[in-house]
Amino acid sequence: MTIDLVSEIQRLKKERNAVILAHNYQTGDIQDVADYVGDSLGLAYHAKETQADVIVFCGVHFMAETAKIVNPSKIVVLPDKDAGCSLEQSCPGPALEKFLYDHAEKNYYVIAYINCSAHVKALCDVICTSGNAVKIVNKAPADRPILFVPDENLGAWVMEQTGRKMDLWKGNCYVHVEFTRDSIRRIKDEYPDALVVAHPECTQAVRLLADEVCSTEKMVTFCQNAPVKDIIVVTESGMLHRLRRECPDKNLIAGPTERCACADCRYMKMNTLQKLYDCLKNLTPQVELPEDIRLRAEAPLLLMLEQSK
Ligand code: 13P
Ligand code: SF4
Repeated sequence: MTIDLVSEIQRLKKERNAVILAHNYQTGDIQDVADYVGDSLGLAYHAKETQADVIVFCGVHFMAETAKIVNPSKIVVLPDKDAGCSLEQSCPGPALEKFLYDHAEKNYYVIAYINCSAHVKALCDVICTSGNAVKIVNKAPADRPILFVPDENLGAWVMEQTGRKMDLWKGNCYVHVEFTRDSIRRIKDEYPDALVVAHPECTQAVRLLADEVCSTEKMVTFCQNAPVKDIIVVTESGMLHRLRRECPDKNLIAGPTERCACADCRYMKMNTLQKLYDCLKNLTPQVELPEDIRLRAEAPLLLMLEQSK
């Protein structure tokens, strides 16, 4: 017997008093059953403020982990516990710990992009997302050097925006570094009036071609307010579903990589409607964290939520 996954998800959601939070890169069918769809920052605020008993987090692991860190009394489940992130992998906790120990004389103020593990968050002074990175860096103490981890591209963009010099960890998002200047030029030749919106995880060569560089959530307002119809969207493919829903009068064109005209994050795409149903039904896999790490990771996250208001 086949079951109607969407109505079963809705039924289980009520039964469990659950909320479904989904990132903008999730597949369209997942976005359509979610209670809230947004960027990392919006998701962190929603996770902290929810009154539900269960948070079903459709995104990647570090996002679900963040929900547990800021709202530990909730059950936090995710469709696939192996949904990782190349940025998280590029900065293992022990490697950062060693780096800070070896450079203790620097007395770094450590700012971590939210795309990292709880262990890395626990070693930082403050967290940021792509949506508030400029604000957070502008609020960093002026008398201490900044170490920015783990995304060198986001870090370089923030330096350009703030004029603040930072030491950058050499990590990147394997999806966003696939976009190239030449491939975007080619598509611009096809759509000469198009505007380009790109995520700050892209390389500088690509960012320089963009009319706007911003978080996934800000892409929605940028596209809604754009004075043209054609917009080239240089980020993960799931974004197009959200944008097409919110900006029905626009022609949204997937930013091309060298190999294809879209870029799927293999981790984001590990989640499926079936796995979402299963995790809601079985309340597993759950995010669990040692309390000492959770507490140490919570402080820089709460500081971020405070500083980005
Ligand atoms: P946003 O916070 O802009 O949604 O970015 C998250 C992410 O993983 C981008 O690759
Ligand atoms: Fe991580 Fe890149 Fe996937 Fe975002 S798109 S979750 S940064 S691997």
